Amino acid sequence: MNSERILCVGLAALDIVSICESYPEEDKDVTAISQHHQSGGNACNTAKVLRDLGVQCEFLGSMSSGFQSDFIRKEMNDRGILYENCAYHSDCGTPTSCVVLSLKTGSRTIVHARNNLPELDIKDFEKLDLKNYKWVHFEGRRNELKILKMIDIVDEFNITQPDDKKIKVSVELERPRETLWPLLSRGDVVFISKDFARFRGFSSPVETIKSLNRYTKPTAVMLCAWGEEGADGISSEGDLIHSDAYPPEKVIDTLGAGDTFNAGVIYSLYKGLTLQDTVNFACLLAGIKCGMYGYSGLA
Ligand code: ADP
Ligand code: FRU
Repeated sequence: MNSERILCVGLAALDIVSICESYPEEDKDVTAISQHHQSGGNACNTAKVLRDLGVQCEFLGSMSSGFQSDFIRKEMNDRGILYENCAYHSDCGTPTSCVVLSLKTGSRTIVHARNNLPELDIKDFEKLDLKNYKWVHFEGRRNELKILKMIDIVDEFNITQPDDKKIKVSVELERPRETLWPLLSRGDVVFISKDFARFRGFSSPVETIKSLNRYTKPTAVMLCAWGEEGADGISSEGDLIHSDAYPPEKVIDTLGAGDTFNAGVIYSLYKGLTLQDTVNFACLLAGIKCGMYGYSGLA
């Protein structure tokens, strides 16, 4: 019997977050209002939000050993996120981000180091029992060619399945990297970030969606979130959808707003909502997230 599990494939990192009145000047010694550690990484963040929404969820990515990865796994355990198929590596560190949240502007500045942790390999994906999953979400990372092969594996599985048992595939093109381009044509749901869109020379979500839609599968849905401007999407029939953002009373933590938006979209489409309701819901969820620290208690 197939499970209803959603698999999020990508990065789990340690985020060290400093909450500051404003973004510090270079070479100053400033005092933060507070600091905390939390798990991070796009796929991990999306998994956390999906889990909060009540979905059975698994994270798949590389993991190192040491107290940082123990911390990440403990958070996943506490939240009920499965991670049983992760690939373990020794002699490397855990990807870590130092993040400054500025209360003055609502910005989140990230300094990230991968610390030599290898990316996920095809063999790590091959060992999955795909019958366990209803949806696989791929964060576009530096192992793009391997991700394409992983999607091939899902496609081959889907050929053997009746329509209601086929796995949906979503892909995220977030980093400004040309090499992510081939992922565009491989998702049933395609997320384009504003960073990737700007890198391609677009200046609005609607322009991005209209221009890139021709490169997706004919049946695909594409979405592009754009901070305070909300998000746009296009259905497989070519209908353009927009939702304004839902600004919280005070923007205090925009770290992972895009990951939250993605989770909101995956959740709503998985539940069978229309694309318009989906984009509205995802913007609402991401807006609520921006008004609170972290990801707990969103739902
Ligand atoms: P990221 O930079 O994390 O990839 P975005 O900044 O594009 O993501 O934001 C994703 C979504 O989060 C937006 O579509 C919007 O709905 C919401 N969001 C982001 N910033 C704000 C904000 N300042 N106020 C309200 N909603 C926001
Ligand atoms: C937010 C985030 C952080 C992580 C960083 C990695 O989207 O996933 O949690 O540290 O980006 O680039």
